[in-house]
Amino acid sequence: MTTTKTAVQWVQERAPQYRPRVAVVLGSGWGGLTTHIEQPVRIPYAELEGFPKATVPGHQGELWLGRIGGVDVAVMSGRKHAYETGDVTGMRVPLETLRELGCRIVVQTNAAGSVRADMPPGSLMVLSDHINLTQRSPLIGEGGAERFVNLSDAYDPDLRALAKETAAQLGVPLHEGVYVWLMGPQFETPAEIRMFQKLGADAVGMSTVPETILSRYLGLRVVALSLMTNMAAGLSAESLSHAHTLAQAKASGDTASTLLARFIARL
Ligand code: HPA
Repeated sequence: MTTTKTAVQWVQERAPQYRPRVAVVLGSGWGGLTTHIEQPVRIPYAELEGFPKATVPGHQGELWLGRIGGVDVAVMSGRKHAYETGDVTGMRVPLETLRELGCRIVVQTNAAGSVRADMPPGSLMVLSDHINLTQRSPLIGEGGAERFVNLSDAYDPDLRALAKETAAQLGVPLHEGVYVWLMGPQFETPAEIRMFQKLGADAVGMSTVPETILSRYLGLRVVALSLMTNMAAGLSAESLSHAHTLAQAKASGDTASTLLARFIARL
């Protein structure tokens, strides 16, 4: 039975032909990447010990093994969000599993709210840095000096440069900016968004940062891309909802996933 096997063993048994070097975490709007995976093997999270059991519509839970432009990848379609249970460690076992499988780079993606007038819905942004406004950490309880993870250049400068170069070649505008992690699940208030603008935020969202912290702890290189699905609260007349996020994510998803696939092929 699968439950008696670790996720690593199970993946190696199901997809022995792949040695993934690059892990990808797909957020809302980025699901189109899976159409770029050659000869995929799809493993439902339900078969993988310690992987999240999804509770959010639009986030299906499957690990895809395969190849994108000659690069062996392990793609997480669906992630665990801290707002589901309050637990910020939900992505630990999956990330450990991906590292154990051979991944050395984690490409994260998400949907975010824009707090910048020059970044309207549909815009793409590579993260230069983040602000952890939740002040929660997936490393609480760890021992040893390794827990004091250095988050300077948490988002790898070389990988960011490569993302920008790839976007320029494709003629896709790619902004660079600071992502603020909020617990959610409620959206922000307009007053909060005005505060975040003053704090140096470019985008706001409810994911990614705990995975970045865990990945850096595990010694993985990180790069992260945001798709702006809306102007943040108070910055436009549109009302915010999860349905709106998903609709906008769908509308811009093709460009986003084409850029992502081209970027991964260069890693
Ligand atoms: N706020 C927080 N998270 C989000 C938003 C937002 O406006 N849009 C997409 N994810």
